[in-house]
Amino acid sequence: MELDLWLDGKHVATVVERRSGRLALTYSEDTVRSWGLEVPLISCSLPTPGPTEPAKTRAYLEGLLPEGELLRTMAGRVGARLLDDAPASLSDLELLLVQYGWECAGAIMVLQHGASPPTRARYQRVTEGELRSLITNLPTAPLGSDPDLGLRMSIGGTQPKLLLAQVEGQWARPLSGAPSTHILKPEMSWPFSSHNEALVMSLAAELGLSSVAPTVEQIGGIPVLVTRRYDRPMLNAQVIRLHQEDVGQALGIRPVEKYSSGRITERTVGLLRNYSLNLEEDLEVLFRQTVFRSIVGDADNHPKNTSLFLCDRGVRVAPLYDAICTLAYRGLSPRMAVAIDAQWSLGKVDEIALVHHGTDMGLSDSRSRELVAEMESGLFDAISNLPAALLAPWPGEELVRLISERLARLRAGLAMGMPTQPIHWPSLADRGIVFDSVGGAGAGT
Ligand SMILES: Nc1ncnc2c1ncn2[C@@H]1O[C@H](COP(=O)(O)OP(=O)(O)O)[C@@H](O)[C@H]1O
Ligand SMILES: [Mg+2]
Repeated sequence: MELDLWLDGKHVATVVERRSGRLALTYSEDTVRSWGLEVPLISCSLPTPGPTEPAKTRAYLEGLLPEGELLRTMAGRVGARLLDDAPASLSDLELLLVQYGWECAGAIMVLQHGASPPTRARYQRVTEGELRSLITNLPTAPLGSDPDLGLRMSIGGTQPKLLLAQVEGQWARPLSGAPSTHILKPEMSWPFSSHNEALVMSLAAELGLSSVAPTVEQIGGIPVLVTRRYDRPMLNAQVIRLHQEDVGQALGIRPVEKYSSGRITERTVGLLRNYSLNLEEDLEVLFRQTVFRSIVGDADNHPKNTSLFLCDRGVRVAPLYDAICTLAYRGLSPRMAVAIDAQWSLGKVDEIALVHHGTDMGLSDSRSRELVAEMESGLFDAISNLPAALLAPWPGEELVRLISERLARLRAGLAMGMPTQPIHWPSLADRGIVFDSVGGAGAGT
């Protein structure tokens, strides 16, 4: 393997497979000269100047790719082999990154060694009909990537999603390494998941945990969660890339190990102590994200669902994303990916566990209590002010009742418990939505 990593349009590092079969990333002399030593430029797990640790290098690179079915389909399309849900060898990893690594999370671009970055980055408008096809074709063309057409895009996660740009209010495909601006996540497995995530993320936006609340749009008969990318802000009328990585990458945890990596909180706090540009604020943000997820009933708090911005030779915790009430689905386990204090079940978390978690992270007991109390009252107000449009036409009121019950029990000093009345979700088929990977989806008759 021999890959070049470009950051913000500059070649900064090369990854090579040594004769021993071990992988190492080395920063270019220019990069080290301008940035210095021990700087987390690409990742906290890959500080300058390199050569970096082989296992962490591989974990970082694998972390740029999607997971599960998405990865299987994308690998099949370019002839890469997988083993145990990960690239089977370093050459398979190389092939996947060369084919899909022009537009990733953050500001990284992966190129074959010696290759020049694509020129003529541009946007291609899509009509409503094309947008429908892009959504309904996601099972065969994940992310909307199409290496043959210069759409080489990759992003972590297991849920089907489409990466697009909004240009002058219209949807466009980002060609030849142009930055995308939005993530479109259709409801494909869990009923009303897009509505659920939109509601939870609206609460998060009200509480200042994320900058913009996503919306739900109907595309091709499917509800689609439309989220603006916080790592693609506008500067002087241009979309720019801010560099970010997820905590799995920052800790050197492979995507396939995201549910089994242990002591995540302690290790994340260790990273922040090393690299945060504002430790006190970042610890509080991380703690508030944890408290919020636990109250809204989100068990999927694995390290790939938290990210860090890398900037100015350090890191800041990125806004919250991918928060959804998983407890609303009886088929999903209430066991959290990462424990809160000694509790693994969302049902068992109470104020004592949350405050202990805060003090374990290094916050004072009084500050942890204050932050939990602020979250409780802020969430109570945010729920009371939810716009009616977010609650219908789907069992939104029931979801709010579930979250409100948890909040009330927390405020009463109790464990938040399991939902007293499970939500009965109508299935996609009951709602007349027919979906298949060949014919696409549409509102059935
Ligand atoms: N609003 C956002 N802005 C920038 N990056 C994001 C945003 N939301 C998600 N991401 C990135 O995309 C990845 C996948 O998104 P996520 O919503 O977690 O998908 P999944 O539900 O498949 O896990 C995240 O791990 C993160 O790197
Ligand atoms: Mg995720």
